[in-house]
Amino acid sequence: MAEVKDWLNASKIDRLDAELILAYVLDHERTWLVAHDNHELQDTELRQANAMAARRGAHEPLAYILGSREFYGREFAVTPDVLIPRPETEQLASAVLEYCGGTPCDVLDVGTGSGAIAVTMALELPDATVTASDISPAALEIAQQNAKKLGAKIQFVQSDLLQNVHGKFDVIVANLPYVAHDWQVSPATKYEPSLALYADDAGERLLKELTNQAPNRLKSGGFLALELDPRQAKNITNYAVKNKRFTVLKTAPFFVIFQIK
Ligand SMILES: C[S@@+](CC[C@H](N)C(=O)[O-])C[C@H]1O[C@@H](n2cnc3c(N)ncnc32)[C@H](O)[C@@H]1O
Repeated sequence: MAEVKDWLNASKIDRLDAELILAYVLDHERTWLVAHDNHELQDTELRQANAMAARRGAHEPLAYILGSREFYGREFAVTPDVLIPRPETEQLASAVLEYCGGTPCDVLDVGTGSGAIAVTMALELPDATVTASDISPAALEIAQQNAKKLGAKIQFVQSDLLQNVHGKFDVIVANLPYVAHDWQVSPATKYEPSLALYADDAGERLLKELTNQAPNRLKSGGFLALELDPRQAKNITNYAVKNKRFTVLKTAPFFVIFQIK
């Protein structure tokens, strides 16, 4: 037997992660632990908490251990089949929402993963029609579960970029894989699917390919919003502007929004 405070003090992982694990095991809010630090843990709870802490100690991301991650104020189920949604992508979603607000909008989320962007678009823009695609059937399954649980109406398509996607859109938004094979990544990232992370050509292959395909799939004046690494922004911007009829609407460290001429 051990009390909450004993377990937290003995834990060798980050304190916040330890609290979140214990809160999950005890099925309470994290703040409950503060007021109940004398609460005695049952053997089964102790075993479960120890096993989860050991996984975290081996660098497995907490989101996979707990099975969810918050994105734009909503909880998304995540498994090792999908990338864990990132705060950078919330900034991309927020910028896209600014351009879509107020008018009915046809939105396509390419490489939807957990469905974080598509579900956010569908719920924040009730007049929008949202399509989400991914090359990975396993990711699409998770995205569909998230859309159902969160009450978002989305059409899902399995597709390599825009190959199987039909129609034209006001906005194409994408957080595609853009990590170059030789970049250093954190130990936790090694738990995420390679298909969601890496791309050839210094991480730029899929970004460039989407700028090639997007002009035929955007309505006049439509937007292409791409998440990328700051190291890629100049190259991708030059590529899109020189070759593909795009102008730059907005740049930020982790994304560029283009408009089709
Ligand atoms: C970086 S993850 C982004 C997931 C999600 N959009 C997010 O922001 O959290 C990239 C996603 O693109 C998908 N993907 C990889 N190659 C693709 C391709 N050629 N066509 C479509 N999707 C692809 C992966 O399966 C993965 O789900």
